[in-house]
Amino acid sequence: MHQLVNFIHREIAECGPIAFARFMELALYCPELGFYEKEGDKVGRGGDFFTSVSVGPIFGELLAFQFGRWFEQSECTSLQLVEAGAHDGKLAADILGWLRIRCPKVFQLTTYRLLEPSARRRQWQRQRLAEFESKVMWVGSLGADSSFSQPTDSFAVIFSNELLDAMPVHRCGWDAKAGAWFEWGVDSDGEKFVWARLTAPPPTSILGLPSSPDLLSVLPDGYTIEVSPTAEKWWDGAARWLRKGKLVTFDYGFDAAGEFQPERLKGTLRAYRDHRANEDVLGKPGEQDITAHVNFARIEKTGIAAGLDTEAFDSQARFLTRIAAEAWKPDSNFGDWNPKRTRQFHTLTHPEHLGNRFRALVQSRA
Ligand SMILES: C[S@@+](CC[C@H](N)C(=O)[O-])C[C@H]1O[C@@H](n2cnc3c(N)ncnc32)[C@H](O)[C@@H]1O
Repeated sequence: MHQLVNFIHREIAECGPIAFARFMELALYCPELGFYEKEGDKVGRGGDFFTSVSVGPIFGELLAFQFGRWFEQSECTSLQLVEAGAHDGKLAADILGWLRIRCPKVFQLTTYRLLEPSARRRQWQRQRLAEFESKVMWVGSLGADSSFSQPTDSFAVIFSNELLDAMPVHRCGWDAKAGAWFEWGVDSDGEKFVWARLTAPPPTSILGLPSSPDLLSVLPDGYTIEVSPTAEKWWDGAARWLRKGKLVTFDYGFDAAGEFQPERLKGTLRAYRDHRANEDVLGKPGEQDITAHVNFARIEKTGIAAGLDTEAFDSQARFLTRIAAEAWKPDSNFGDWNPKRTRQFHTLTHPEHLGNRFRALVQSRA
């Protein structure tokens, strides 16, 4: 049996059913055994799913163009680009490659940091980014426990693509009869992992579960939501670290208006393997990706509480098209819009591809 499966069975045998957040943490990030810790393609044609980064270099090139513009408007003397969830370093290579050729002045003033807690992934990123060795540095985390602070008079952009949806979530259900939330845990039936209601009530103060009587009075029995204190804590740390600049993320998810939808009775958890989505998130830990929609309303609120302003919350299509409109201008020096670039741009922005499903959130501190 797969080593990770044994490891999780043992943990359940010792401690009883575990919170789903713990299961997801182990399935994705268990050192050496988790899905993101194992060697091999995960993202792109040969992997399990596509991302905007794997569509081609155009995503990074448009971001590089925009980051350069923000920096030039800021009148700061250096640019700190801080990427989280960089995976194999492809986005970093696309951004730095474009800046080096198209915007050498900004390139010279740029330092690129990869926020990467995993030693293995750092190693893969180092190989990918060998040609930018003097530009790139690694940091474990931002926030209170980080030894790295934003240099005075620098402009920083902290950014990520599909980072927050890959962070562990607690899965909670509404028990209409009891009028209370409960938490779904993971148990073992000796062979497989199975869902089990945890007997302890969910830690409401940490999870901040919905409490509006109007909402709860109409919520169907069993309505399921996912909550990610890890994602909110991460956003809070990044927001508080930022002295001047922007905090940007691209992901799929919903805003406050879309938080409770009849079609999401069972929540948004999905597993991805070989480019196919499935709902068996407890099957094959370590061999498939697990994700949940990002609750952008809570993420945005977290940033505002840390003193940031929301500048944009838009579809990826509209966000990238606004950048492209500037990049299309003849004097932009963006580079030719050859057919390959144009095809990649359509994939990123077409409503039936990644355009509407993905959103961009930009918060800033002036
Ligand atoms: C869905 S992949 C996205 C990869 C890449 N950004 C892309 O768009 O192709 C999510 C990545 O986030 C990383 N990740 C998860 N939690 C993280 C954290 N706290 N800090 C940095 N990276 C993290 C995972 O290891 C994984 O590489």
